[in-house]
Amino acid sequence: MGLTAIIGGSGFDTFEELTVKDAIFQDTPYGSHSGPILQGSVGGNDCLFLPRHGAGHRFPPHKVNYRANIWLLKELGVTQIIAFNVVGGITPTMSPDTIVIPEQIIDYTSDREHTFFDGNQEQSLGEGYPNVQHVDFTTPFAKELREKMIRFFYQSGIDVVGHGVYGCTQGPRLETAAEIERIKRDGCDLVGMTAMPEAGLAKELDIDYVSIAIVVNWAAGISEKPLSMLEIMNTVIKNMGNIKSLLPNLLRFL
Ligand code: HPA
Repeated sequence: MGLTAIIGGSGFDTFEELTVKDAIFQDTPYGSHSGPILQGSVGGNDCLFLPRHGAGHRFPPHKVNYRANIWLLKELGVTQIIAFNVVGGITPTMSPDTIVIPEQIIDYTSDREHTFFDGNQEQSLGEGYPNVQHVDFTTPFAKELREKMIRFFYQSGIDVVGHGVYGCTQGPRLETAAEIERIKRDGCDLVGMTAMPEAGLAKELDIDYVSIAIVVNWAAGISEKPLSMLEIMNTVIKNMGNIKSLLPNLLRFL
């Protein structure tokens, strides 16, 4: 196993289980990353932790500097990323409180800096990286790492859905009922705002990337009940506490 980074999402911006050795802040060719990257160990394994939205959830999904985050994780030697994403459920089996390890992505975002390979000589990644490249993104999430994680959840007796298509929207607003209908017709099971361009950038830098998606609400129009931000936040907090406590064992298992 190489070096793992955990990217925390909404409700996961502190990581009490991490024994912290250092906090890293470094300029990148792409500007500032979301905040200090904590370096330490979890369950006896070296690990880095980066809260995607920064301290106090400063950056909404469309303002996160995904390139700076992923570039710096690569620079620090990261070979695999476990990303946490909160999502809305579309498919009936993906109800609130479900943990999903998605398998595919459809990207509906716009206007985000989404590639290292935009032909910009000044931001060249250096030797081994051409300025223009078209990476194979057939499998956005790392297959072996996904399978291992699914096995870990099963063996720990924790219900997990080990498949699913994640539709990534631009946000920060939630979707209309018609948008969700369309996303559903496209084949998405889940909807969130943060897996892209993060997963694509990790692929460009050859880092294995997996998502632990936590369903915190029914997507717009799926349930008769109106969406309540208070309920969503309570569901986020409840689930994140539980899942964080599993991470020492998960990292030991991987
Ligand atoms: N839509 C988009 N992103 C989300 C949702 C949603 O319903 N819930 C949590 N993140």
